[in-house]
Amino acid sequence: MSAADPAPPFGVYVHWPFCLSKCPYCDFNSHVRHAGIDQPRFAAAFAAEIAATAARIGHRSVSTVFFGGGTPSLMEPSTVAAILDAIGTDWTLASDAEITLEANPSSVEAARFRGYRSIGVNRVSLGVQSLDDTVLRALGRLHTAREALEAVAVARAIFDRMSFDLIYARPGQTVAAWRDELARALAEAGEHLSLYQLTIEPETPFSALHAAGKLAMPDDDLGRALYDATLDQCAAAGLPAYEVSNHARPGAECRHNLVYWRHGEYAGIGPGAHGRLVIDGTRRATAAEKRPEAWLMRVESLGHGVTVDDALSRDEQADEFLLMGLRLAEGIDPKRYAALAGRPLDTARIASLVGHGFVETTADGRLRVTRSGFPLLDAVVADLAA
Ligand SMILES: C[S@@+](CC[C@H](N)C(=O)[O-])C[C@H]1O[C@@H](n2cnc3c(N)ncnc32)[C@H](O)[C@@H]1O
Ligand code: SF4
Repeated sequence: MSAADPAPPFGVYVHWPFCLSKCPYCDFNSHVRHAGIDQPRFAAAFAAEIAATAARIGHRSVSTVFFGGGTPSLMEPSTVAAILDAIGTDWTLASDAEITLEANPSSVEAARFRGYRSIGVNRVSLGVQSLDDTVLRALGRLHTAREALEAVAVARAIFDRMSFDLIYARPGQTVAAWRDELARALAEAGEHLSLYQLTIEPETPFSALHAAGKLAMPDDDLGRALYDATLDQCAAAGLPAYEVSNHARPGAECRHNLVYWRHGEYAGIGPGAHGRLVIDGTRRATAAEKRPEAWLMRVESLGHGVTVDDALSRDEQADEFLLMGLRLAEGIDPKRYAALAGRPLDTARIASLVGHGFVETTADGRLRVTRSGFPLLDAVVADLAA
């Protein structure tokens, strides 16, 4: 790399593992603690883990920070500030760093937004999930649609950049009903929307309901019709999909998530957080202890909570590059694949997938999945990686 090349982006993911209640569809590493949480103690442990990671990998300029969860909007602004201070002390926080915090859209949490803004958070991502109160109750959410839209308005007034999440392809949802809900969402949206099809995760209450035949999930045809409607409506509103589930005005993409999808380097800090670190030229996959109190005790005795720390082989890196990169509308650079794998992609397989209309090559030589290929993304990746 020449001196003129900008440093590649480096992201820091911080996981806050607590929620006020557990939503019945969710299998994220999130826990309810009725007895309260010792936030200063957790803040000190987060800072210690940041210091330990910095000692391992050396200096970095941090281009993005993402507070995910769980429910990071349950963190006191002082807890977030302590973590940002640690990041800025052990590394350098770039002056234009994107600093995102995920928030649940209740009024209590919206009241903290100004505090977050004043300590440097410059983007929020709100879990609205639905604009229908009956659906919100069925999803186990603690907020109403009105409260969520008020939180969206507060966020838009305070932050230049904001996004919100909706879950669609829900039991019983028709294309017409989703179109109407999405139109109302787009009318309130800022620059970015994350729109996820409901997935039934193992060992959740929804999985038990589903097994008992009590959740009528959309079949593949309806799922595809809902997806097509989503792509068309968002593009028409100026927020085209840049990733399978993510839509943004051009230039307003989430820079942090792009680090993952573009095979960049990131540190995972906190219970259950995953990282991809480059140490002495080797890309390593890290993961921390998931249980919050066990993680805390580990950090307090060892200085870090990492329980998995594996060097990735060339094949593993190349597979991951495909799996993540082909989620993006921009696709992948096959030359980068060849450099990682030590061999190029198989041209006969590409030709066959092109023939089926599942992938295409662009004028500048990139390979990307087409609209008809996206619902089959896992199979397309498996075929290319074989
Ligand atoms: C960590 S959560 C977001 C933050 C916050 N805790 C909340 O729920 O508002 C990330 C997002 O994943 C999505 N999600 C979680 N479980 C899902 C599932 N089973 N199917 C589809 N989307 C899901 C939701 O849209 C949620 O907002
Ligand atoms: S969806 Fe969000 S609020 Fe609900 S349990 Fe999962 S992380 Fe917590």
